Amino acid sequence: MCGRHATWVPLLEKLGVELPVVQAGMGAIARHGLAAAVSDAGGLGTIGILDPPALLAELAAARAITEKPLAVNLLLPFARRGHWEVAAEADAVVTFWGKPRRRTAAAWLHQCGSVGEALAARDAGADGVIVQGVEAGGHLRGSLPALELLARVRAGLPAGYPVLLAGGIAEADDVRAVLDAGAEAGVLGTRFLLSRESRAHPDYKRRALAGSETVVTELFGAGWPAAHRVLPNAATERWLAADPRGPAWMRGLQRATAPLLSRAPEAMQARIGARLRSSHPLLGPRPATDDGPESLVEAGPLYAGEVVARIGELRPAGELTRELAG
Ligand SMILES: Cc1cc2nc3c(=O)[nH]c(=O)nc-3n(C[C@H](O)[C@H](O)[C@H](O)COP(=O)(O)O)c2cc1C
Repeated sequence: MCGRHATWVPLLEKLGVELPVVQAGMGAIARHGLAAAVSDAGGLGTIGILDPPALLAELAAARAITEKPLAVNLLLPFARRGHWEVAAEADAVVTFWGKPRRRTAAAWLHQCGSVGEALAARDAGADGVIVQGVEAGGHLRGSLPALELLARVRAGLPAGYPVLLAGGIAEADDVRAVLDAGAEAGVLGTRFLLSRESRAHPDYKRRALAGSETVVTELFGAGWPAAHRVLPNAATERWLAADPRGPAWMRGLQRATAPLLSRAPEAMQARIGARLRSSHPLLGPRPATDDGPESLVEAGPLYAGEVVARIGELRPAGELTRELAG
């Protein structure tokens, strides 16, 4: 299905996913409870990247809850052989960041921030792409609003090639709008971050429910120096007064240490994360989870998209999935 002259079948239909609703991978925030609830309701649930044994355990736990298709999300700069071995057990793999390359026999979607990246993913054999708009929560791959990027990507790819859209979706009307614009499905992070099943720390969820402003920064770039959209917290207040990206010297330090930090073993990263305070000059991408250090609520990234302003309550993920599909 990946040749230039192939006839494209809607990817979700091929996978047996009934509803045009995909829950984004969100690292340790998106584990089996969330992914299984979304998939079981008819959408496509995604388990976020974890170290390989934990990822395998989460996938097995999700399989015990639902027989529906499940996806695994891999961040290419951090994915090692063990991650790909686990991903082979999933129905779909969603990759993000870095040079797209086929490493799996499962259905493969690559999340992109530009037309060039979408074409590269298609040429590398991706079964479909997710276009990510700049309004999205988490790490930002491009700079265009999602619907504008969708139109450009659609124009550059063969008719019918599966294109999904991420960024700015919170309600059924938003899903309908992206389907009308030619996307096969909507991909939602922030809305599912604010579900009962998400493993975000309760104070992170409270902040997000109360918050409306987000900031695009590079502040939490230790090990992954790149732009990301977050809610304000003590760390952003401490460091972003002069430049929303963060102090230039700090970004330099992040770039210099990234090759080392991005390869640090999970146990070491967890130890570093537990000791972080908002005044620390090397803040990392690990978000606050309900089983992690509470200090990360102030010293870690509170990833959230612009839609956070329109979300006022925590909801069960299955109910959300059905409602979003209209
Ligand atoms: C809390 C949070 C964590 C995220 N973590 C990841 C991640 O680990 N991998 C990934 O591919 N995308 C991640 N994203 C980005 C999503 O894939 C997606 O692009 C984004 O959530 C869509 O925009 P929305 O937040 O407006 O729904 C994250 C987003 C959020 C909100």
